Amino acid sequence: MVNTAESSSATAFTSAPLTGKAAEDARESAARESVAPLTGARTKARIALIGTGGRSEMYIRAIFGKHADTAELVAFSDVNPGRVEFYQKLIQELGAPAPVASFAPADLTAFIQANNIDRVVVTTPDYTHADYIVEALKAGADVVVEKPLTIDAEGCRRITKAVGETGRNVVVTFNYRYSPRNSALKEIIQSGVIGKVTSIDFSWVLDTVHGADYFRRWHREKKNSGGLLIHKASHHFDLVNWWLNDVPERVFASGGLKFYGDKNAAERGLGPRPERGTPDAGSPGIGDKTAEKDPFALDLREDERLKALFLDNEHYDGYRRDQDVFTGGITIEDNLALVVEYQGGPRLSYSLNAHSPWEGYRVAVNGTEGRAELEVVERAAVLNSTDQKTVMDPSATPVEEEDAIRRNGERLVVQRHWEQAYEVPIINGEGGHGGGDELLLSDLFNGPGEDPLGRPSGYLDGIRSVSVGIAGNRSLESSLPVRIEDLDLGVDLRRGA
Ligand SMILES: NC(=O)c1ccc[n+]([C@@H]2O[C@H](COP(=O)([O-])OP(=O)(O)OC[C@H]3O[C@@H](n4cnc5c(N)ncnc54)[C@H](O)[C@@H]3O)[C@@H](O)[C@H]2O)c1
Repeated sequence: MVNTAESSSATAFTSAPLTGKAAEDARESAARESVAPLTGARTKARIALIGTGGRSEMYIRAIFGKHADTAELVAFSDVNPGRVEFYQKLIQELGAPAPVASFAPADLTAFIQANNIDRVVVTTPDYTHADYIVEALKAGADVVVEKPLTIDAEGCRRITKAVGETGRNVVVTFNYRYSPRNSALKEIIQSGVIGKVTSIDFSWVLDTVHGADYFRRWHREKKNSGGLLIHKASHHFDLVNWWLNDVPERVFASGGLKFYGDKNAAERGLGPRPERGTPDAGSPGIGDKTAEKDPFALDLREDERLKALFLDNEHYDGYRRDQDVFTGGITIEDNLALVVEYQGGPRLSYSLNAHSPWEGYRVAVNGTEGRAELEVVERAAVLNSTDQKTVMDPSATPVEEEDAIRRNGERLVVQRHWEQAYEVPIINGEGGHGGGDELLLSDLFNGPGEDPLGRPSGYLDGIRSVSVGIAGNRSLESSLPVRIEDLDLGVDLRRGA
């Protein structure tokens, strides 16, 4: 395979002001060699996708659309045959001449070997990633995996070992890096205009639609998702690691479940509630149009796609995508605060709240010569309107809701010491995440080419990002700071090590 990433990363990091060590950067490029284009000796890479749920659609549309010339989807796999069928229908609509093959997840190795699969795209729940990555690598395929790479230290060790033994590639698709606003902040930091970074203040708020959704699904149990510190914040920690071109060293975390869950509901005087948002067919319930609208109830019948993917296929696996957010059994946190120390010296103070009335984030980067501030409002208000289709993730699908005080939008402001502030323009493209998803897919299917920002990410970036969440989870348990080197992740995470 042609590895254009190596040369691109070398170019990218030579000019990075925070390291400035060419030798280290070259070695870092080598670590990134897992970011290779999907094109190989054959004209099209042969791809198998495992996990045909919500996220897989982006990859499937890309393969049958813009990237049909470099990639071929050979097969789908999922524990739920109904969801495989859903995508068989979708690809017909996208113009596929025939259905693609499907195979049972337990037959992954045999399928890869019998069908010359080049890459496996893994879009299953987080706790399954390590198993499928290791199996695919050992069977002779490269891997494209959704974030998070894995949820625990054991997963990191197993993936590292499998990469070492097979020499194969793992790409972690950190699409947030590709959002033009996040890339713009990277450019500012990398340019040196604010000097050497000393600290970052980063707070992310998920609203009562998108935030609540993590408490309805498999994510609500830590054993499945690693909690929001892994599942959600691995995006955010990856951004910080990448913005700083640095490696996290020590983490102190504090947090808890303060809003969702049965105990919090009882404390706030909420009475007994149905276990799920979709009422039984024909009976009135919390999702019934005639009943007063319960803003926390998700009635799967009201969203054609959710109904077809999940409600209509419950009879296969019993999975309920609409569990009530105020029931018991939730083992993840909804309020989190962390302090993270970086090897190069900067400190990160980070917070995550999952029941905010608006959604977005604020990042302030303090440097020796000034400060950069990025403010993003993805949904300015959650209004309890009955006639609007709910958009779960406003970063993927722009929404209209806003008010006179808070507007949807983004602003990057830079101010150097002794100078006036100025705004840095952010140029967005078409599609999710300000056009970032399209850029990511292009890198993935055509090869990253020359990227001065070093956005393509390999398994080491994946481990660096989850290392903060894994340490954070340990810190939550012990109430003590945790050193990342004590996690025994099976790899030296230092850049250039
Ligand atoms: N980068 C992003 O912005 C982004 C957005 C959404 C999801 N994701 C990631 O994508 C992954 C999938 O999330 P999703 O929202 O599509 O979840 P989902 O629940 O919609 O889909 C998961 C699919 O995996 C299947 N599955 C469950 N266990 C399986 C197993 N053991 N083997 C094979 N298939 C199995 C389920 O039946 C389901 O079809 C997660 O890791 C998530 O973190 C990333």
